[in-house]
Order: sequence, then C-alpha cells, then structure tokens
Amino acid sequence: MNEADSELMAGSFIKRGFELTDTLKKADAVVVNTCTVRQRAEDKAVSQIGRLRKWKLARPDGRIFVAGCAAQRLGGKYLKNRFPFVDEVIGAKDLDSVDAAVEMFFGLSSPASREPRAANYEPPPPASPVSAFVTAMRGCSLKCAYCIVPSVRGPARCLPPEEILASAADKAAAGAREIILLGQTVNAYSYGSPSGGLSFAGLLQKTSELPGVGRVRFMSPHPLYFDAAFFRVFRENPKLARYVHLPVQSGSDRILKAMRRGYTRAKYLEIVAEIRAAAPEAAVSTDFIVGYPGETEKDFKETLSLVGESGVSFAYCFKYSPRDGAPDPAPGVPEAEMEERLTRLLAEVKKNSSDILNARIGRIEEVLLETVDSGRTSANFVVRLDDATGLKPGGLVRAEITGVKKNALKGRFIP
Ligand code: 5AD
Ligand code: SF4
Repeated sequence: MNEADSELMAGSFIKRGFELTDTLKKADAVVVNTCTVRQRAEDKAVSQIGRLRKWKLARPDGRIFVAGCAAQRLGGKYLKNRFPFVDEVIGAKDLDSVDAAVEMFFGLSSPASREPRAANYEPPPPASPVSAFVTAMRGCSLKCAYCIVPSVRGPARCLPPEEILASAADKAAAGAREIILLGQTVNAYSYGSPSGGLSFAGLLQKTSELPGVGRVRFMSPHPLYFDAAFFRVFRENPKLARYVHLPVQSGSDRILKAMRRGYTRAKYLEIVAEIRAAAPEAAVSTDFIVGYPGETEKDFKETLSLVGESGVSFAYCFKYSPRDGAPDPAPGVPEAEMEERLTRLLAEVKKNSSDILNARIGRIEEVLLETVDSGRTSANFVVRLDDATGLKPGGLVRAEITGVKKNALKGRFIP
C-alpha cells in the first residue's frame, strides 16, 4: 500500500514535468513516504529524514516532503520541530493534499524549463512495468489489538469501480500484464447496493476482462470476508493468480482471540482448504507475529505446527512491536525469547517452502516474465529459465519446472 501511495505521489510530480530518480544528487525534491506498522519501520523512516539535512544544506531550494503513516502518527508539528529543514508533512489520511503541496512549492514551472538535464540523463524505469498495484480500498475498519493501521489510515473506504478499473486499464495500456488489487481487507470490497453494486468477486472479474490484463492478484484478504461468489470466480477464471496471501498472525486460538482477529485456527485452515478445493494448484502464503503479549511456548508451538498443517508456501514473520493505543493486556514476552521464537519460525517456514518448491518439479507452469529470463508462476513462485532466448519482460510463456535453486524454481522454456 505504501508503494502504491508512493506511485500516486510520484504522479503529482510527473504531471508537472518532473522525472523520477533514486539518486539524491539529481533530485529537486525528495519525498519520504513513511511506514509505522512496526516501530522499526518508523525508526528507519525517521533516520532517513535525518540524513536529508545535508542534502538540504547543499541545495537550499530543494524541497523535502514527508508523507505516510509515520507522518500521520508523529504529526507535522513534531516532525517540523525536530527536522526544521522539512518543507511539508502530509499524513496518510491527507494523501489527497499531496498534489496541492507540490503545486504550492513548484507551481507550473516544469523542471524542463529550469536547468537542462545532463546529456546522459536516463530516467529510471518504473518500479515494475509488468506488474502494477491498483488501490481498491483505503483504510481499515477492523480492530486487531496490535495494529496501528486503522488509527493512521482511518476507516475502510472502497474506491468507486470506475476509478479502480480506469487505473488498472491505464496501467495495462502502459504495459502491465498483472494487476494487483490492494486494500487492507481487500476482499471486503463492495460498492453500491447489494443488488446493483459491485462485489469483490465482480471487481476481480471486471479487472481480468480489461484489455492487456493477463493475470490478477489481490492483497491482502482477511479470513473473515471470503464468500461463495469469490470462490466461484477464483475457480472459474484462469486469469486469477493461483495465489492468496492470507495473513494468519498466530496458530493459537488463545492468541488469535487476544489479537481480536475474529477467527480460530480451525476456521483459518477451513478457508485454506476451500481455496485449495477451488484451485488445487494454488499457493497460500501468510504473515505471523511472534511474541504477542501472553504468548507461551505452547501457543508458539501451535504457530509452528500451523506452518506445515496449512502448507503455506512462504511467510513474513515479525516480532511483536507495541504501537500506540494497542493494549498490552498480558505480560510481554522478553526480547531474547521473541528473537529465539522468530529464528525457529523462520527455519520452519524455510523447510516447508523448500518442500513446496520441490513438489513443483515436473509441472508445466505459465510464467509471467519480469526480466528476459525470469518471472513468476501464477502461484507466485519465481522461475529462472535457463534457455531463454528472444523472450521479453511482459511475456506470458510456458515452462517446465526442472529444479529448485535457492528460493526459486528453475525452468525450461517451452516454445
Ligand atoms: N507488531 C508486529 N507485526 C505487526 N504487523 C502489524 N502490526 C504489527 C505489530 N504491532 C504485521 C502483521 C501484518 C503485517 C502487515 O505486519 O503480521 O499482517
Ligand atoms: Fe491492521 Fe487487522 Fe486491519 Fe490488517 S485487518 S490493517 S492487521 S486492523
């Protein structure tokens, strides 16, 4: 979501004639789009802002914008006080005001009419021309006990279908073959009345029908919001990626309840089974938090055993990070213990992923090329082709999976 917001902000500059660069020396303006989901993310953003002091000293007419969730949490007053060289602070709830801020600082004067670029200046390519994020929902109305997102992004709002589909169509026209629909609880998407409106299943279907779109993914669904219409479209529409990233957070019912996730371990497994029943080749990945206050060794073992039982292909694993407003109802897990649990969980995930990758050997897979010789399967496994000649990023090709190397599959291109 943060990346998608960055793209949106970049649009405000691009339409005024700016180009994107990740080289500070070349920049007229810097946007720091911050995250605060865990304290470490916020600390990184804050130290990044600190490092810009030097840049501003060397270029007093340069502009620094600080945006996003940490900007929302810390506030403009605090940030401008601590970093007086910051020009504008725009919190995650005020994303709409980025355009006005850029206008205010740069007006209509395009950089083209200012200093000419060096002759060898090459604008960096867009993040991924093959795969594009499209925001479908902003904010979140759930109240997971550990989570700061609802407070910094506000309640869930569904964007109008016309806006989502126009954005997806634009990105497909610009070369994206894969559209990734985004929302904090993206499968809760619904617009208009139940009879005349558009459901999440309808949105997936319509996105898949746009010219040029070869694959549709979504991120992240919540276990509470799957319905029969979703499973129908997932089963029947081959353009829907056979991949669901479905955060579970814990394998222990006691901890899930304390986290206010709204489902049990059994319910989560039931949904994973339904996903596999609709598409047996589908891969499911997840997020885990270890060391939530009150998590015992027994609770943690239930998380460990869920890895194999759910058969997740991959998991992002995090140590619990206390956030504002999130109650810490039970005694905290000591840092050393959290660290140790994280290491054990990562090892379990790795072992499981390796088994799952090996099980793909021998299959024929459709690969969406992201470079001339590598891409992703519909189930989101990276494939490196060893005999690819004449292929181009954006191609949807068939490959036989021949092996596993590091965290990726090896494949043989089938002409
Ligand atoms: N501490 C640790 N991890 C967190 N996440 C969200 N909030 C916290 C927190 N306070 C993780 C969850 C979520 C992912 C985006 O970040 O696993 O799914
Ligand atoms: Fe946070 Fe829970 Fe909403 Fe996800 S569903 S953004 S974890 S409150």
